[in-house]
Amino acid sequence: MTERRDDTHGSHTHPAHSATDDANSGRPSVGRRSFLRNALAVTGAGGAAAVAAACDSRPAATADPATAEAAVPAFHGARQAGIAEQAPPGSQTIMTSFDVIAADRGELTDLMRTLTDQARRLCSGGLPAAVGITGPPSDSGVLGPDVPGGELTATVGVGATLFDDRFGLATQRPTGLTTMPTFPNDNLQTPWCHGDLSLQLTAADADTCVHALREITRATRGAMQPRWRMNGFISPRRPQGTPRNLFGFKDGIANPAPAEFDHRIWVAGNEPAWTAGGTYQVVRLIRMLVEFWDRVDILEQENMFGRARDTGAPLSGNQETDDPDYTNDPEGMVIPLTAHIRLANPRTSDTDGSRILRRAFNYDRGTDAVGNLDQGLIFLAYQRDVRDQFEAVQHRLKDEPLVDYISPFGGGYFFILPGVRDEKDFYGRALLT
Ligand code: HEM
Repeated sequence: MTERRDDTHGSHTHPAHSATDDANSGRPSVGRRSFLRNALAVTGAGGAAAVAAACDSRPAATADPATAEAAVPAFHGARQAGIAEQAPPGSQTIMTSFDVIAADRGELTDLMRTLTDQARRLCSGGLPAAVGITGPPSDSGVLGPDVPGGELTATVGVGATLFDDRFGLATQRPTGLTTMPTFPNDNLQTPWCHGDLSLQLTAADADTCVHALREITRATRGAMQPRWRMNGFISPRRPQGTPRNLFGFKDGIANPAPAEFDHRIWVAGNEPAWTAGGTYQVVRLIRMLVEFWDRVDILEQENMFGRARDTGAPLSGNQETDDPDYTNDPEGMVIPLTAHIRLANPRTSDTDGSRILRRAFNYDRGTDAVGNLDQGLIFLAYQRDVRDQFEAVQHRLKDEPLVDYISPFGGGYFFILPGVRDEKDFYGRALLT
């Protein structure tokens, strides 16, 4: 397994600090259209062909993406990367949402082309065309003189607000795409919620993610604006098996198998044709009240989840891979009826249709105003139907004992766009053209 650093997680940018640099800096403001010039620079000087060649030569994902440590998946494909493949232990991520400020459908289309060009370059490696000695460098240089390929995974989604009256897309809205509601026990804060566009950048190293975000925001400035952002990480294996969350429990053990993704995760059926290859993304930013948690005795902690903390095994079993046995425990003597795993997935035929694909990351963003540690989970779930899957699970969990130790404060619902198929394709092409 590759050695990974585990140090740099945790910094964040509050939305209030992210949007007004030019107004405050006294520097000339970057015009709405400047992202177009960047787009041209990226693909100039033979860049497109070179980048495309590099994309296609990258290693493909491993055969069993839900369980194996996947190689960084290829950029081009019918589906976007970052969903079917579980990011390896030790991965870093930036989860971010943007407000689109493009003026019209034409500018939105330009934005999507630019975003695609940048993501393609950043995922596959290479530099944009030089702008000459009088211009700023074409790349920030954070990753050195050459941007290495095969290290970054980018995943792009769109929110329900993109389908309002600004861009004439109302009739094309994915049928189940709504604005995330407030659930019981939520503490949602508007600056941490929703957005027109979601972008997740994942890599082994934090600087790879930071560099990608920097290049993307520079190239798209004037057309989209960061709304909220959270850095996250997946722990290394401690000591083996599934990585752990910040309550010390293995998190991400029970997920649908890859063979089930076609009927549980990727959309089909009653949807606009352009959505083929996409899926619904639910993001929940959930603070974990670790000071309180650390005062709870181990038996109560394990009963809250229904699994042993050390091994990850269900309380009815010995290993993390064992299925929990509810059939022989109808009264919850072994795994309480209120345990997180039992409520989330009772493993009955009635609830089978609500299974979701979870791809959570931990976050650590320092301390709050009163000196408590500000840690939690970037909960990410994928499904073909948010109401029947995520919302059904969320509803079953609404009074679980764990709610006293967690506080959801942000996130949103997004539709993950179909993949970028080749060097001529771009994010949302079938939607916009
Ligand atoms: C900070 C909040 C949360 C924490 C700390 C947490 C932690 C865990 C842990 C430790 C497990 C057991 C290991 C595993 O199978 O991955 C688990 C399972 C699961 N969680 Fe969560 N979870 C959280 C929020 C949620 C939310 C919001 C949902 C959905 C609404 C959810 C749905 C599930 C599901 C479906 C399972 C698998 C159950 C199974 O199939 O046996 N969790 N979670």
